[in-house]
Amino acid sequence: MNRGYLGIDMKVLITGCYGQVGQELMALAVSYENEAIGFDHDVLDITNQQAVQKAVMQHQPQAIINAAAYTAVDRAEEDVDIAHAVNAEAVAYLAQCCADMDIPFIHISTDYVFDGSKTGSYVEDDEVSPLGVYGQSKLVGENNVRKLCEKYYILRTSWVFSSHGNNFVKTMLRLGAEREELSVVADQYGKPTSAREIADVIYAMLTSDKCAWGTYHIAQPESTTWFGFAEAIFAEARNHGMALKVSTLNAIQTEDYPTPAKRPKNSELNCNKLEKIFKLKIKPWAESLKDTVREI
Ligand SMILES: NC(=O)c1ccc[n+]([C@@H]2O[C@H](COP(=O)([O-])OP(=O)(O)OC[C@H]3O[C@@H](n4cnc5c(N)ncnc54)[C@H](OP(=O)(O)O)[C@@H]3O)[C@@H](O)[C@H]2O)c1
Repeated sequence: MNRGYLGIDMKVLITGCYGQVGQELMALAVSYENEAIGFDHDVLDITNQQAVQKAVMQHQPQAIINAAAYTAVDRAEEDVDIAHAVNAEAVAYLAQCCADMDIPFIHISTDYVFDGSKTGSYVEDDEVSPLGVYGQSKLVGENNVRKLCEKYYILRTSWVFSSHGNNFVKTMLRLGAEREELSVVADQYGKPTSAREIADVIYAMLTSDKCAWGTYHIAQPESTTWFGFAEAIFAEARNHGMALKVSTLNAIQTEDYPTPAKRPKNSELNCNKLEKIFKLKIKPWAESLKDTVREI
């Protein structure tokens, strides 16, 4: 079997290793026969340029995967400086290290670089126009990678969930166990994506011989709304015998649930480029949701 560009026994440095995607990257490394050196926020603050350089020099990785990010979309509207420091400036520090060492940089970005006004799914070179600070900071981060690195994969993803960390699935299960009635936004469209699927795709790309550097979308079919996702979560939870109080689920409009940060009405990512170039088949989110609910 062709193990591709970096082969087995690849040493990969992973930032933000306690985040949703970070944890899955650490867990999956073994099945790709790679050595993962994980750094969580406490051990390596990526906004500290010297610390980043020191960690990279000390461990001499063959690739860096940046799973660290400031992901509090609403809080970012106030924490503008921190959001930019983590999502934009620190990304440049990591990208520069990769460029200096001539190693690949894998950076995760977001559907929130789009404003959601498009009809149909977003492709990689569609116009970007973030609606809030989080999306703006992630966009600057993307551009820093493109400016500094030659060997990079920027992977934009959406609506990430896993059995750990903070995410919509866990919030719904918690609220569904506490309340009889819930209201969920039904006019924002996107594709839920499991952190495990993202990690799997990242290793598949890294160990492929394609070296087709650039920007890609990774999201799981099919498109839904937050309301539709909530319905699926509760159905799955009941299949697994979870005790839920919730009996009424109301479909509401974005206007009925005001948040500090505006969200795109449509953030469906088109993943044809990824599937075609790397010959990958991304599985539906409903399958990953089954596994996630079982694990929870
Ligand atoms: N979550 C989503 O729905 C979503 C959607 C689209 C794209 N994405 C992107 O996907 C990627 C992974 O997201 P995720 O859901 O796995 O995020 P997450 O669970 O919030 O994990 C992010 C990790 O980064 C760490 N971190 C924050 N600031 C740091 C710093 N200065 N130095 C080092 N580590 C730091 C956090 O640690 P602390 O918690 O200790 O601060 C956390 O462990 C991110 O690039 C995100 O922008 C996420």
